[in-house]
Amino acid sequence: MVRSLTGSQLARQLGDWSGALPAGPAYARVAAGIRLLVLDGRVALDTRLPGERELAAALGVSRTTVTAAYDSLRAAGYAVSRQGSGTRAALPRSRSGDSASAGWTPFGPDGSDLLDLAHAAPEAPTHALRRAYDVALEQLPRHLPTCGYNLFGLPDLRAAVAARYTARGLPTRADQVLVTAGAQHAFSLVLALATGPGDRVLVEQPTYPNALDAIRRHGASAVPVPLTPDGWDVDAVAAAVRQTAPRLAYVVPDFNNPTGLLASDTERRGLARSLGRSRTLTVVDETLVELALDGATPPPLATYLPADLSVTVGSASKTLWGGLRVGWLRAEESLVRRLAAVRASVDISSAVVEQLTVAELLGSLDAVLPSRLAELRTRRDALAAALGRLLPTWRFRMPDGGLVLWCDLGRPASSRLVAAAEHHGIRLAAGPRFGVDGAFERRLRLPYTYPVDVLERAAEQLAQAFATATASSVATRPLVDSFA
Ligand SMILES: Cc1ncc(COP(=O)(O)O)c(C=O)c1O
Repeated sequence: MVRSLTGSQLARQLGDWSGALPAGPAYARVAAGIRLLVLDGRVALDTRLPGERELAAALGVSRTTVTAAYDSLRAAGYAVSRQGSGTRAALPRSRSGDSASAGWTPFGPDGSDLLDLAHAAPEAPTHALRRAYDVALEQLPRHLPTCGYNLFGLPDLRAAVAARYTARGLPTRADQVLVTAGAQHAFSLVLALATGPGDRVLVEQPTYPNALDAIRRHGASAVPVPLTPDGWDVDAVAAAVRQTAPRLAYVVPDFNNPTGLLASDTERRGLARSLGRSRTLTVVDETLVELALDGATPPPLATYLPADLSVTVGSASKTLWGGLRVGWLRAEESLVRRLAAVRASVDISSAVVEQLTVAELLGSLDAVLPSRLAELRTRRDALAAALGRLLPTWRFRMPDGGLVLWCDLGRPASSRLVAAAEHHGIRLAAGPRFGVDGAFERRLRLPYTYPVDVLERAAEQLAQAFATATASSVATRPLVDSFA
């Protein structure tokens, strides 16, 4: 399915960047704005851009300006044109020679390296990981005589994941677990099985942007239910379910990304009541559940949901390392089988060594986690203190866990800040990435996944970028000189 943007849709999105783009001719500012939208993921790759005449009218500029902007985007690799299919958003080949995906390229406008604060994933626990790989390699000969394909996952890993759920109060058998290549893969499998074009998927607003992208990619549409500053509005969820009859619900109740909110036991029971009563299949994303920094987490949401209507997805990415690409889903055995059948047509199996490694690490998680959580606590507190010192007008709730601060900038400046930050060596994800329909222009998600000295330097660079982005002379400068 090819997505298209109308002139007024693109003009509206470009308006967010107005003011933070470098001075220069109008065409260069239009091109810079579109480039940032593509890098930020708000204009998805391959989206058809509006015709030149249409965009010119929407922006109030001459057609020559838009022609020159598109020419410069094409020259830089951010657009491609094909006869008959118009101009589409693209990404240039990176310096490594591969074409990267939206928002993942680590280079700034001048090709310099950027500190990636657009993603939130910690580095590997080097020692424990090396040791687990050694154990995995010792075990590998046992598997070499087999074909190496494990549609459901290696039995040892399925058992280790099941044991972890059971220990957390959700009794689980190994045959209720499907090993996947991460939580995002697991969610995509559920979307592929359960949704079709036009279906609605209930999501929290804000939520995890790659989940929103996956929903769109499956032709479904997200129905956002706002989170309140303190948590889940169970009545609003019930009303949305009644009014929109979603095919699926996707919720992140454990250190919700990006708000860091943790659903209370009462909220969990309320959510489960509404979703269960309406027989809504619910995906509970527990990717961050093991990252409790202060206090304990309530029982898994699936404990309260009807067994045949819940799929819990989990991952080694945040607890251990994203580079392992190992995750899983937990559901009733019959549903696991149907999801495995979908998986067979996607990628068949996860890599054996990584599965063995994660099985080993899950077995010793209680030994690995405490020092990792202590380090994250230190980093969270250091970033919070640095922001308090350097950006005292920003507001954020101190999260009890997870990996990010969800900052209120006090003004709708997120996109401008993201644009300015690239000139200060930092890649950020703008607040609207986390919402449906461009919400959260006052917000910025900041991960505390780096060592303290890196975070403190980043806070200084952010303060400089924020000053640039909000300096009144700059903030009122229109995107293009004739843009009303
Ligand atoms: C809520 C949430 N779900 C899923 C993912 C993706 O996890 P994985 O690396 O396991 O695909 C992330 C990563 O940031 C996340 O925060």
